[in-house]
Formats: sequence, C-alpha cells, structure tokens
Amino acid sequence: MLMFCLYFVFSRSSASSAFSHKQSSVENAIRRLSKLFISPQQRRRGDEWSEKCVDAVLTVLGDHADQYFSIDGLYTHPDYQGRGFASTLVNAITEPADKHDRPTLLVSVYHNFPFYESFGFQRVMDFTLGEDDPDWDAEPILVSVMVRQPQVPSRKDQ
Ligand SMILES: CC(C)(COP(=O)(O)OP(=O)(O)OC[C@H]1O[C@@H](n2cnc3c(N)ncnc32)[C@H](O)[C@@H]1OP(=O)(O)O)[C@@H](O)C(=O)NCCC(=O)NCCS
Repeated sequence: MLMFCLYFVFSRSSASSAFSHKQSSVENAIRRLSKLFISPQQRRRGDEWSEKCVDAVLTVLGDHADQYFSIDGLYTHPDYQGRGFASTLVNAITEPADKHDRPTLLVSVYHNFPFYESFGFQRVMDFTLGEDDPDWDAEPILVSVMVRQPQVPSRKDQ
C-alpha cells in the first residue's frame, strides 16, 4: 500500500521540527537537485510555499509544538486514488493522536479541505499563494493550516 503513496511523514512531538528550516542533508540535497529541473516560476512558487507555510504553521503551533502529531506530504498516485489508501494513512496518525489526547496538524490546498474535514480537521489559518507573482494570472490559491482536536472514541468503537 505504501508504495502508492509517494511521501508520507508523521511524527509525535516533532511538529515544529518537521516544519522548521532544519532539514536533513539528504532532504536538502534532493531539494537542491530538483531545483535544476523546474521553471523559475515553479521555483518562486516553491519558495513562496515554504516561507508562508512555515510562518503559518509556527504561528498556529505557538509554544505547543511538542503536543502535536503532524501529517505532511500525503499524495496518492492518480491511478490508485479512491481506494482508501490516504484514509488508511490519515487514520494511522489520528488514532494514536486520539489515544494520546493530542491534536494533529497539516497544511492543505483548498481542493482537499473536504477530504480532511471528513476526518474532523478544521481550518485554523488561511494564506494564499500567487498574488504577488507577476506570471500568475489566475486567482490566488487558498491554502490552510488545519488542526484536528483529539476525539474521544465512542463506546461502540472501543
Ligand atoms: C487527497 C488525496 C491524498 C486522497 O487520496 P485517496 O487515496 O484517493 O483517498 P481515499 O481513497 O482514502 O479517499 C477517501 C474518501 O475521500 C474522498 N476524497 C478523496 N479526495 C477528496 C477531495 N479532494 N475532496 C473530497 N473528497 C475526497 C474519496 O472520494 C473517498 O470517498 P468515499 O469514501 O466516499 O469513497 C489524493 O486525492 C491526492 O493525492 N491528491 C493530490 C495530491 C494532493 O493534493 N495532496 C495533498 C497536498 S495538501
């Protein structure tokens, strides 16, 4: 199942580090390499994403970063979407988060809000991409930091 999901990271007590600038040397090498194959606009968008995403996440986390579980970079290959792979992975994070009475945080683009809302995530901070990009003539892209508070399992689920 995991082979169909390109990249999935979760952690307990490491939400701030997952979003900080302190990336591993391997991750940094991959990022630097990938920049060779993208257009200047894609590079600007990536930089804009990184900057705004880190700012928004750190604002939401405040002094409680060590309390959060987090989900980052959840993708299912288009040929395998709609088969429950992403749901299984989201539940693999939220179930232990509930067990430990911890909130879970992620960042989502607008078109996936309904997917995450179906698991109990709520938008807590919005930001937009593209409004300052002279080459982006479509509407700015709405992105949100979403948080799911821990839920008490009902008696029938226990
Ligand atoms: C969002 C995404 C990860 C869902 O993956 P998936 O493996 O297809 O999800 P599932 O099969 O577990 O879907 C479970 C349910 O959510 C629904 N769903 C999936 N994506 C949805 C979306 N964007 N909006 C609303 N519902 C969605 C499915 O239709 C399914 O409904 P059902 O249970 O009634 O059949 C996948 O569509 C994806 O990779 N999208 C592109 C990448 C992306 O935007 N990643 C997120 C970056 S923030």
